[in-house]
Amino acid sequence: MNKIVLLGADGQVGWELQRSLAPLGQLVVCNRQRADLSDLEGLDRLVRDERPNIIVNAGAYTAVDKAESAINTARRVNAEAVATLAKAAREINAWLVHYSTDYVFDGSGDAPFSEDATTAPLSVYGLTKLEGEEAIRASECHHLIFRTSWVYAARGGNFAKTILRLAKEREELRVIADQIGAPTSAELIADVTSLVLHRTLQDPSLHDRAAGTYHLVAGGETSWHSYAQFVISEAIRLGVQLRTTPEKVAPITTCEYPLPAKRPANSRLNNAKLQSTFDILLPDWEYHVQRMIRELADQGSI
Ligand SMILES: NC(=O)c1ccc[n+]([C@@H]2O[C@H](COP(=O)([O-])OP(=O)(O)OC[C@H]3O[C@@H](n4cnc5c(N)ncnc54)[C@H](OP(=O)(O)O)[C@@H]3O)[C@@H](O)[C@H]2O)c1
Repeated sequence: MNKIVLLGADGQVGWELQRSLAPLGQLVVCNRQRADLSDLEGLDRLVRDERPNIIVNAGAYTAVDKAESAINTARRVNAEAVATLAKAAREINAWLVHYSTDYVFDGSGDAPFSEDATTAPLSVYGLTKLEGEEAIRASECHHLIFRTSWVYAARGGNFAKTILRLAKEREELRVIADQIGAPTSAELIADVTSLVLHRTLQDPSLHDRAAGTYHLVAGGETSWHSYAQFVISEAIRLGVQLRTTPEKVAPITTCEYPLPAKRPANSRLNNAKLQSTFDILLPDWEYHVQRMIRELADQGSI
């Protein structure tokens, strides 16, 4: 029987992992109160006391703009805590599953980045996430690092929900049109994590070659601007009363909306390695976005 320690369990991905990992074995669910990622000694003790065969870390310092002025906190959570988990995982021979980001790349060009493309983060968040990845690889523990992008969920705050709120308040919106990526559902990330873990633990041939870094993003691509238009048109289609329409969403450039942290213009991640290694399909981004909007509309939350 597997024993899984799940960290960061109250985040968008962590919440969905509570559901998707439950059938795999005994699940030890840890939110910030149960396991603070900035308490390195406590983390090490938790792993040694629980002795899981799988550790899944969904916790991270994700406040991208705040991280620019909170480098020590971001590094503690995104890099040092991850290094502590990797070292402990190596010592007890456990698998470590961890999530990283498109922000490890500089966003140059317009081709999707593959897993072995050169990393060059533009922000403190991206840099500290990369340091976390590197600590895992250096530890030589059995690991799966899933780089994802533009994460959203019905539960928690994210771009799609902000757009829906603004679309109720304002007649016109201005949204960045020169950053391209794939909105990826926390539900999809959690389901794929569970499936990949199950396959890896069941199949001895996969067990030896599965470890590594993978791009876990939905299929297709869009800009924040087209994503906003899609969200608004779906909500209208479901009968939600909004003050704006897709036509009233104006495209703007990144320069017109300055933020403390620089974002990659090209956030495309090539997800072919994950699909072929584990024989899975990553649906186009619209599929799960439609589901979330339907869910929010049914709940009366928009
Ligand atoms: N969100 C995105 O667009 C995005 C894009 C690419 C990659 N990722 C990566 O995907 C993973 C999951 O992200 P997400 O969207 O689920 O993030 P999220 O919703 O912001 O959740 C992060 C969780 O980490 C917890 N956390 C932060 N500091 C902590 C600490 N010191 N101790 C314990 N827990 C702490 C937070 O707890 P509190 O709720 O108590 O603050 C929160 O529950 C992360 O590795 C992230 O870097 C996210």
